[in-house]
Amino acid sequence: MAVVAQYDCFLADEAATLNLGQALAAHLAAPLVVWLEGDLGAGKTTLVRGLLRGLGHHGAVKSPTYALVESYRPPNNSMEINHFDLYRFTHPDEWVDAGLDELFHPEAVCLIEWPQQGGSHVPAADLRLALSHAEPGRQLTLSAHSAHAAACLHPLDLSIWQK
Ligand SMILES: Nc1ncnc2c1ncn2[C@@H]1O[C@H](COP(=O)(O)OP(=O)(O)OP(=O)(O)O)[C@@H](O)[C@H]1O
Ligand SMILES: [Mg+2]
Repeated sequence: MAVVAQYDCFLADEAATLNLGQALAAHLAAPLVVWLEGDLGAGKTTLVRGLLRGLGHHGAVKSPTYALVESYRPPNNSMEINHFDLYRFTHPDEWVDAGLDELFHPEAVCLIEWPQQGGSHVPAADLRLALSHAEPGRQLTLSAHSAHAAACLHPLDLSIWQK
């Protein structure tokens, strides 16, 4: 996967992760496939929470660890946000059994935690958000793999999260 643009950030605390997610939301456009990478507790769900908050979603954002996917229709917006968590997959073919392909459509922004668990069934990433523990905070690398994803990142002022 060729990288079109790449940025590194340091997120000092949970609020920073939420704020970055919120900032990212302002420039998202469907269709978009986002892989959320990082260990257990790296902050993937927190980032999605910030993103949904930025899109005007005021309700809860549950981790889809058990449900596999949670879908949201943010107000004043035609996008559907589909938030997946494949952590509990015991085999990549569970992707097919669950019929997840139909959630990838032109209006969809699909955010996928643990994408590697779905193997080759998982659509290629436009954008990869890789989080890692850098106690007490987190390191985040944002990698755009398509021109569309690069255009979503380009207007972001990431300087407040760069150290
Ligand atoms: N930048 C940060 N600095 C410190 N703690 C953070 C940061 N971002 C998130 N956290 C905290 O990390 C914890 C785990 O976050 P979260 O549930 O988002 O991780 P996750 O990557 O989704 O984990 P899992 O793989 O288990 O789903 C939460 O308590 C959250 O508040
Ligand atoms: Mg999570």
